[in-house]
Amino acid sequence: MANATDHLWMHFTRMASYSAGEVPTIVRGEGAYVWDAQGRRYLDGLAGLFVVNAGHGRTELAEAAAKQAGELAYFPLWSYAHPKAIELAERIAALTPGDLNRIFFTTGGSEAVEAAWKLARAYFKRTGKPNKYKVISRYIAYHGTSMGALSITGLPGIKSDFEPLVPGAIKVPNTNFYRAPEHGDDHEAFGRWAADEIGRAIEREGPDTVAAVFLEPVQNSGGCFPPPPGYFERVREICDAYDVLLVSDEVICSWGRLGEYFGAVRYGYQPDIITTAKGITSGYAPLGAMIASDRLMEPFLTETGMFAHGVTFGGHPVSCAVALANLEVFAREDLVGHVRANEDAFRATLEKLYDLPIVGDVRGDGYFYGIELVKDKSTRETFTEAESERLLRGFLSTALFQAGLYCRADDRGDPVIQLAPPLIAEQQHFDEIEQILRTVLTEAWTRL
Ligand SMILES: Cc1ncc(COP(=O)(O)O)c(C=O)c1O
Repeated sequence: MANATDHLWMHFTRMASYSAGEVPTIVRGEGAYVWDAQGRRYLDGLAGLFVVNAGHGRTELAEAAAKQAGELAYFPLWSYAHPKAIELAERIAALTPGDLNRIFFTTGGSEAVEAAWKLARAYFKRTGKPNKYKVISRYIAYHGTSMGALSITGLPGIKSDFEPLVPGAIKVPNTNFYRAPEHGDDHEAFGRWAADEIGRAIEREGPDTVAAVFLEPVQNSGGCFPPPPGYFERVREICDAYDVLLVSDEVICSWGRLGEYFGAVRYGYQPDIITTAKGITSGYAPLGAMIASDRLMEPFLTETGMFAHGVTFGGHPVSCAVALANLEVFAREDLVGHVRANEDAFRATLEKLYDLPIVGDVRGDGYFYGIELVKDKSTRETFTEAESERLLRGFLSTALFQAGLYCRADDRGDPVIQLAPPLIAEQQHFDEIEQILRTVLTEAWTRL
């Protein structure tokens, strides 16, 4: 499509890079594959954007959307309810860990994160600790783009244009064990150190000023950092000790991505709030949610009280109907169990790539992996800015796509390739991913 750049302003896109070339235009999807306007097929190694968990081409999800739009296209959740939101909230409450049973719908992840920070602030204002407003999150972590969520995000490169941001967003180290500044030879000690850094930050800022800690179960940005053993257990202790809310940002890590409905369940910790979006509908309609407990809702239950927050399309009837149909597919096909049964095979297949000199680290869990690329495996030396630019932007992204694999080559932290295929993926897809990566990474090495 020749005129894609005439009017369409694409997200996080160097528009100028398309001035001479054609914008890849995807027109159709089926299972783990998508097709472009020229009829070329690609393995969707990123489930769109960590979204299409049930896979492409599910007509029953499309039908659920059509049926709902025909019945009741729209009604707000502002003082009114509609059946699909009620049913979906009940369904989600039954899947969440512990006492998380209050579902505040949004249209996506940033809005869920925004809502969580606002809830944390309002909750403490109403419970006698009005100075608790700050939030702690981790270096390189991505939590969204609205001003609050962007402030929580730890990526300077996507923040600087928009500063000053919301005050009170503090950063602590992430759990990148491959590049651990301390305890690089001891996973557990590193986890303890990284968790204690949160405690130290709370102490530095003043416990009376900190409202919440935002953490992903597996940190996406930087290339899939799973939590070290004991990390979340220690974070939970710290949050309890200082009366700070633990927000599990599961915009990516819920709905089977890590082999459980929620990442917190996978790693056995109890958050105070979960934020989610993306795979909740497998992308057949937009939806997000902030999930809290009775305890956090209680201060808003006075006669004239309310959580003064909302968005027009939060909990849209069509999206809720699609989410319910999506969860039916999950249950019928046991997609979550499928991930658990196949995650070791996925890991083992990706780990074959360790024989390439450019592959430094393969890390992740479930169907969520990052492959860190290095210049020197023995020293873990990474690429310079210019090499990274040439390698990732100049060659890898395009070459992988041309070879039939859609995935992410990212250098917001160290250079990584990220993979998060639809949850229906199995060995044949893992093999295809591995083979394309092998060919293209081998070629990349010769170009350095
Ligand atoms: C952990 C996390 N939080 C928040 C967001 C923002 O979600 P959205 O793009 O739906 O606003 C994302 C998006 O990728 C995310 O990965």
